[in-house]
Amino acid sequence: MKDNLIALVGFMASGKSTVGAALASRLHRRFIDLDKYIEDIVQLPIPEIFQSQGEVGFRSIETRMLADVTATEQNIVLSTGGGIVTVEQNRALLSSAWRCVYLRAKPSTIQQRLEADGTPRPLLQSEDPSLRIRTLMADRTSWYEEVSDVTVDVDDLSVDDIADRIITLL
Ligand code: S3P
Repeated sequence: MKDNLIALVGFMASGKSTVGAALASRLHRRFIDLDKYIEDIVQLPIPEIFQSQGEVGFRSIETRMLADVTATEQNIVLSTGGGIVTVEQNRALLSSAWRCVYLRAKPSTIQQRLEADGTPRPLLQSEDPSLRIRTLMADRTSWYEEVSDVTVDVDDLSVDDIADRIITLL
């Protein structure tokens, strides 16, 4: 089962969606972006889900959607939201059913990419986003490591190079 299901995990703006699409195209697989999948089903953008249901509500939808995708899909590449690993049930499912690739990025890389990428992240609405990134990253790093089969350091690599490296390592 694991070979059929490849998931990219890692911090916000580490490149999971872009790399996931490139990887899926090379492997001739379908690509699913879990955040977009959630937005399509709930019919609301992620920031509005956070606003109306809070982080706890968002996490419960995310957990349900990961379980749905795991049960129904085959031969796909999935990009996940950066906080998916905060829920133990998700970590267990990612570890058991998915071949997970951790896209590891330094906080400075994340900050640069967040500035360039227009997607609003509700969890980074803070007076000191740099501190928030470092704190969240410290909380989550061991979980990304725990679920992953393979790690790629993405700071200095292009999307194509990252996809190549993943294919070599898988
Ligand atoms: C989140 C990451 C986001 C999105 C939501 C929460 C997080 O996805 O799921 O805003 O907790 O790190 P990206 O990792 O694609 O930004």
